[in-house]
Amino acid sequence: MDITVLATLILALLVSCMFIYSTWDKMYRQRNLPPGPMPLPIIGSILHIKHGELVKSLNQLREKYGSIYTLYFGSRPVVILAGYQMVKDALIDQADEFSNRGRLPTVDGFFQAHGIILSNGERWKQLRRFTLMTLRNFGMGKRSIEERIQEEAQFLIKELKSHKQSPLNPTNILVQAVSNVICSVVFGNRFDYKNLQFLRLLNLFNDIFQRMSSTWGQVHDLLPEIMDRIPGPHKKINKLLDKLLEFVSERVKMNQETLDAANPRDFIDCFLIKMNQEKKNPNSEFTERNLLMSLIQIFFAGTETVSGTLRHGLLILVKHPEIQEKLHEEIDRVIGDNRCPSIEDRSKMVYTDAVIHEIQRFSDVLPLNVPHAAAKDIKFHGYTIPKGTDVYPLLYCALRDPEYFETPNKFNPNHFLDQKGSFKKEDAFIPFSTGKRICAGEGLAKMELFLFLTTILQNFKLTTKMHLTDSDISPKMTGFGNVPIPYEISFMSR
Ligand code: HEM
Repeated sequence: MDITVLATLILALLVSCMFIYSTWDKMYRQRNLPPGPMPLPIIGSILHIKHGELVKSLNQLREKYGSIYTLYFGSRPVVILAGYQMVKDALIDQADEFSNRGRLPTVDGFFQAHGIILSNGERWKQLRRFTLMTLRNFGMGKRSIEERIQEEAQFLIKELKSHKQSPLNPTNILVQAVSNVICSVVFGNRFDYKNLQFLRLLNLFNDIFQRMSSTWGQVHDLLPEIMDRIPGPHKKINKLLDKLLEFVSERVKMNQETLDAANPRDFIDCFLIKMNQEKKNPNSEFTERNLLMSLIQIFFAGTETVSGTLRHGLLILVKHPEIQEKLHEEIDRVIGDNRCPSIEDRSKMVYTDAVIHEIQRFSDVLPLNVPHAAAKDIKFHGYTIPKGTDVYPLLYCALRDPEYFETPNKFNPNHFLDQKGSFKKEDAFIPFSTGKRICAGEGLAKMELFLFLTTILQNFKLTTKMHLTDSDISPKMTGFGNVPIPYEISFMSR
């Protein structure tokens, strides 16, 4: 190539780069957003995120920029709230303004802002009110949710006993038990542990959760414009969700064919009745699409989180036999061995309650929270956050906030016990988030954690041949969700 042509090309390239850079720089500096590292055109702040360590990197940036800062995910700004006080100032003190759902690029294409978790505005209000009411009331006149969990816990014990104390990876059994509680509320029935077809369906949740949390999932969240266009494992999430859609569509069809409006059997029946009542209301959000999308979301939200927490919990307890021993002592004293645990026991079991809180704090199953967004232009701590800007109220930084927890990176039930051994509430304990979007299944999840864990420990001593270190029991894969290492334990009859 002629040298002058080459020189012209290089010059043109340099001039265009300078032009792009100065436009970007001007645009970036004009905003009154919280400070943060200088972003680059197209790739934003990705160079500040360590490979596969999104949560850790966000925490490190906090040390440099404080508890509110801005990062650029590609070209869009994302405001990070890191530390309990900042999360509270936003989600509680300016609750309405921060209550919108933000982008979740790994699944947004599939849900298209439908269903309770990913919707906003009037759609979200209608779906949330209905979901809370149905979850609260379900079982009225028939069996309460507590009885459903107690019954499932007994099925779980029977299944664990059938393994005759041999080492076992408890992942599948726990997922099955927990999902059966949701199934019984949402679909009106549970599934047998031997039902392999159902187990395959449940494994889809784990697969989706892992893909959303993996390095690919993390990069997808950081650079959606680019990742949406390139192939990779993140692209399989939609196919997996399609399979779940097939399953819930089939269940809705079954309910439609056998619906008796006077006797609703489950969540689906209640929704179908509401759809019918509101069919002449043009503003009604009780549509089949919202039903299907809410079902997948509730099924997913209610299964992976609780079973993941239990899985972390068993791993922690097998590493700490001294804590297990104290739990056994309290269970024997308060419940004994000839009746099953009930929610009423919880107030008399301070140590158990503290351990369960600490398991939730330490395992931190959703460290980034689910993204929020500004519902309008917000004035906050002297900055302006424009309407639509994504906001990440990090749960990780609240749950490990050294101002509230003495040894934030160590498993320590004393975080929830005072000097007299009474239960100590901590404001920064927000694994379910806080404010208007707080987890809609919080009550159900707490009941499940208490009843499943106490029933398991009433029946078994947990042992393992693995030599576990402190690092082994720490949560792994910290992107969207945390998971424990794979492990095997023996459930020794007591
Ligand atoms: C240990 C168990 C659980 C944890 C740690 C957990 C945590 C969370 C978190 C952090 C959020 C996002 C809140 C926000 O946007 O600020 C959330 C939302 C939600 N969770 Fe849970 N969750 C758990 C169990 C459950 C269960 C059992 C259900 C079943 C009904 C459930 C249903 C939901 C729903 C429907 C939302 C969306 C709320 C909304 O957008 O208005 N979760 N959860």
